[in-house]
Amino acid sequence: MFITLEGPEGSGKTSHIAPLVDYLRAQGHKIFATREPGGTSIGEQIREVIHNLKNTDMHPRTETLLYQSARAQIVEQLIRPKLSDGFIVLCDRYADSTIAYQGYGHRQDLDQVRSLVTYATGGLVPDVTILLDLDVEVGLQRKQKENEWNRLDAYDLAFHKRVRTGYLELAHQEPGRWVIVDANQVWQLVQDALRKVIEEKLK
Ligand SMILES: Nc1ncnc2c1ncn2[C@@H]1O[C@H](COP(=O)(O)OP(=O)(O)OP(=O)(O)O)[C@@H](O)[C@H]1O
Ligand SMILES: [Mg+2]
Repeated sequence: MFITLEGPEGSGKTSHIAPLVDYLRAQGHKIFATREPGGTSIGEQIREVIHNLKNTDMHPRTETLLYQSARAQIVEQLIRPKLSDGFIVLCDRYADSTIAYQGYGHRQDLDQVRSLVTYATGGLVPDVTILLDLDVEVGLQRKQKENEWNRLDAYDLAFHKRVRTGYLELAHQEPGRWVIVDANQVWQLVQDALRKVIEEKLK
């Protein structure tokens, strides 16, 4: 079982992963958690380039390709081997982030972006994708309160709104894979919803 967490900036993906892993392990599940971009040594180096606020001149195609490089590495080095070893893999962002951000956000040709994603993943599609859906202004405000402001956060509000719209369209196109969770609730309610969704899917 390969589960991914998606959603706009500050929707809570990262803050929910560790407690979710602890909970699922306590229920006896074999869990491996990771994140994108990153997860591997090569991927974390690429993450630094992507997120670095100094790289303001990065072209959207450059950005798109950097994400796919990190992704190809994590899929082959970690995700596929862990799935083969019987782990439930939980990933903080994955391929759908590219469709939402580099496709809808940057308004690049969606078919071309999808082809790149398929190439990068070797066709590995998550079994379950949870969309933490949130008004983008609320998410960006949450992020501004902490010190994790990166190059992507700094894109304008219209970009982030296109990202959210993109996510919602993706979720509606593939309702069998996507589950939408309202991320505007207090943190514990969101955590409870995530636990419930995953436990249902694991049955
Ligand atoms: N339901 C919530 N209510 C209030 N604050 C929250 C909630 N969920 C998360 N936060 C806080 O919002 C901030 C951003 O959360 P987090 O880093 O988990 O978001 P993210 O989805 O991983 O963002 P990004 O896409 O930028 O990586 C954190 O400080 C987190 O503690
Ligand atoms: Mg995060």
